[in-house]
Amino acid sequence: MSRRAVITGWGKCVPPVSLSNADLEQLMDTTDEWIVERTGIRNRQLSHVEVTDMAELAARRALACSGLDADEVDLVVVATCTPEILCPSVAAMVQDRIGASNAAAFDLNAACSGFVYGTSVVASMIESGYADKVLLVGAEKLHFAMDYRDRGTAILFGDGAGAAVFEPSEDGAGVLSVDLGADGGKGGTMVIRSMGSAGEPQATNDPQNFRLHFEGRAVFKIAVQGISASAARVLERAGLTADDVDLVVPHQANARIIDSATRRLGIEAGRVFVNITDLGNTAAASIPMALSDALDAGRISPGDTVVLTAFGGGVTWGSIALTWGNRTEPVGVHEGELPPTDMTSMDLLRQNLDFYAPLHANDPPIG
Ligand code: UT7
Repeated sequence: MSRRAVITGWGKCVPPVSLSNADLEQLMDTTDEWIVERTGIRNRQLSHVEVTDMAELAARRALACSGLDADEVDLVVVATCTPEILCPSVAAMVQDRIGASNAAAFDLNAACSGFVYGTSVVASMIESGYADKVLLVGAEKLHFAMDYRDRGTAILFGDGAGAAVFEPSEDGAGVLSVDLGADGGKGGTMVIRSMGSAGEPQATNDPQNFRLHFEGRAVFKIAVQGISASAARVLERAGLTADDVDLVVPHQANARIIDSATRRLGIEAGRVFVNITDLGNTAAASIPMALSDALDAGRISPGDTVVLTAFGGGVTWGSIALTWGNRTEPVGVHEGELPPTDMTSMDLLRQNLDFYAPLHANDPPIG
């Protein structure tokens, strides 16, 4: 049997401050009914700490779940498009904090497809023998880039982190096939401009330039088509059909996108895991958080065929077909928590609201 990469640990970090649709009604011209009907989202969580803090906690929980010690890990990869700073990488900071002293570390940015791209990278490294025990984290603090008076973007996104530990298997379980793709020509549909080296100080301070630019309707169409085509290809590569799939764990972009894409694939809702209602779209964090929730809910059994599929900025897309291994119960539990806060969502969003206020000088007042 060839060597494959199997998931042996999982964990997530959900930051404690909630931002409900009712809260958003106070900030913009929207309604709970509109948001639920068009997106399936009722709530999202906001982080009062940095993205690295969330990544660290998710990583510690995944490690405890796997039963491994940090010094057994030989690679830490963090998928994120909202790193705390550009250098050092979030992965290097997590490596240090958890004590993974024998591990290499790097970040990977494929926006919402980051965890799927990351899975393909770490699985290839395990299959080739370049790595043995790998921690892959998806972590995002997206709220920092949101203009909370822009109803076309801010309703969708939340913060969070999820992580998985991958180890080699020789019994046939693990990653079976991969499909990755990109169309940089459509990259203008989702842009966070000001964090790269082109973000000279004056551009960084221009709210028009800084906020997430997002062409929702265009992205919607590309996403439905992209996800269903990519998932169909990954199944074909694994020699499987839609009937063989026990669970699809898709990127939680929008409940309607998930529904349309999986319907095209011929997979009914009962075989699709959706947790977008409470968490919103958390980009690269969404699949590992959903995987964690799916396992906690008993939705994955040993030997199940699971498909991960995502679409995101770049634009990028990708899918993974895998056979779940034997572990569906955690070996151990990490009891740590994020530091407590008594901040409200409005306290946390104050900085955003002030920063973007010049773009809304003619809007009706908040509340
Ligand atoms: O993870 C990365 C992938 N990205 C995504 O998954 C997002 C993909 N896109 C979407 O999820 C959807 O396009 C949105 C949720 C962003 C928008 O939903 P939509 O059904 O595509 O609405 P729309 O943009 O076609 O707008 C329909 C109407 C417009 O009004 P008019 O022009 O018909 O009068 C909008 O101005 O709805 C209006 N609208 C809103 N109304 C109330 C847009 N946003 C809102 C809102 N509340 N929040």
